[in-house]
Amino acid sequence: MTTTTDALLTLVGIRKHYGGVYALQGVDFAVRPGEVHGLVGANGAGKSTLIKIVSGAEKADAGTAELNGQPIGDTVKALHAGIAAVYQDPQLFGELTVAENVFIGRELRKHGRIDWPEQTKRAKDLLRSLGLNEKLAARRIADLSVAEQQLVSVAKALAHEAQVLILDEPSAILTDREIEKLFHAIRTLKDRGVGVIYVSHRLDELAQITDRVTVLRDGKVVASEPTEDLTVRRIAELMVGHALTDNTAEPRSPQGDPALQVENLTRRNRFSNVSFEVRLGEVVSLFGLVGSGTGSIARAVYGIEPADSGTVRTGQTAMLPGDRSRQGVFATKTVGFNISIASLKGLWLNRNQERRTATDFINRMRIKTPGPNALIATLSGGNQQKVVLARQLVDRPEVLVLEEPTQGVDVGAKEEIHGLIRDIVGQGTAVLLVSSDLPEVMSLADRILVVRGGRITARFDRGVAQADVLAAAAGDE
Ligand SMILES: Nc1ncnc2c1ncn2[C@@H]1O[C@H](COP(=O)(O)OP(=O)(O)OP(=O)(O)O)[C@@H](O)[C@H]1O
Ligand SMILES: [Mg+2]
Repeated sequence: MTTTTDALLTLVGIRKHYGGVYALQGVDFAVRPGEVHGLVGANGAGKSTLIKIVSGAEKADAGTAELNGQPIGDTVKALHAGIAAVYQDPQLFGELTVAENVFIGRELRKHGRIDWPEQTKRAKDLLRSLGLNEKLAARRIADLSVAEQQLVSVAKALAHEAQVLILDEPSAILTDREIEKLFHAIRTLKDRGVGVIYVSHRLDELAQITDRVTVLRDGKVVASEPTEDLTVRRIAELMVGHALTDNTAEPRSPQGDPALQVENLTRRNRFSNVSFEVRLGEVVSLFGLVGSGTGSIARAVYGIEPADSGTVRTGQTAMLPGDRSRQGVFATKTVGFNISIASLKGLWLNRNQERRTATDFINRMRIKTPGPNALIATLSGGNQQKVVLARQLVDRPEVLVLEEPTQGVDVGAKEEIHGLIRDIVGQGTAVLLVSSDLPEVMSLADRILVVRGGRITARFDRGVAQADVLAAAAGDE
């Protein structure tokens, strides 16, 4: 083991189990001042459990967790001791403003009353330091994009002046530009001596931001090394526990009749005159930087966001929404229920059939769970995402709208999921894909429609260079 004498945070021999599931099996982990420490592992490896123990949200069964040599207590104590965490789903209050959310529970007071002007001013400073528009301070959380919400929760953690900042997949839904803002903020903290724990499935960004990477597999540390000694491939192999095979984009078969036709779709201040079609057996991707309107367009196409004018002609359609915490999971139900709910329209009266299908998807998507009867709330974040996606694939709809289908999903499962998407497209489904993961778009899409400022500004066919798509999205013609 490495020396931990100069460590800010030291965990030794941490164990945690939930019923029969051993989430952590004797984990040693240390963070030094000014160190950005990457924490990676497949879905269900134990990352979130570990950081919940660090932040005091969960109690370990065994082992010690210390900050500056002092035991970490419950969350409130951990916060006062200087540990702040941004969890996988931004835990914010939708009806409150950004400024209110940043200071909730620790309001700034003057003469015993909340000092609103000061809070607003400080919130604006924080937003600016993250490269965000300070006008957001007065906006309601519910009106922000998921990406903006994520950056607000980072701002909230920064407001705590933490010694240790934990980020659980902060970049899963951010575009490259927003990630740059986030990295800038992290580097500022690093210079101040803050220790940062950075959980991510985007392995390529580890080299940019981390000093050290610890890999968890099935609740155990399988490597903890300086980032410069590791490669993305090596990390991925450590995560899955075996060598990886290369996958290349296969040429695609010809497509069928138009299944989704969108004409002049317009919503004031969001998007205007959007026209395109998706054929059966075709994947069309809307790609744009956050704020470009791709998510709004997709949701309007599906009908869960209004449009002021224009037409959408489509067959039987299913949608995987981007905001899974609000729209995706039936939190109190089982995994099996969550997979089969889309098919309850009379088709699946047969419980055995339901079980078989659920089990099949659990295996194919490598969903880490004891089985279809487990409660979905007991699954790790990435595994819950897979369940929600499985639900859309089960029915083989004519048209499938996918928003960020592999957000928060580990490398191994991501390839499986791409395979599953290719399968249903091969069987004739038309897919409209919205993803901020450009390599994903490049590998799945037959056509790419670049959206900027709510308009389609460029159209590319399969085989275009990634740099051209990015340049078009950024507006560098
Ligand atoms: N409340 C709970 N009840 C039962 N099992 C749980 C609970 N929380 C976590 N687990 C299990 O513990 C294991 C580790 O989960 P954890 O959330 O730490 O994974 P993770 O590495 O964060 O994964 P992901 O990348 O998907 O977020 C998983 O098998 C998960 O199902
Ligand atoms: Mg997690």
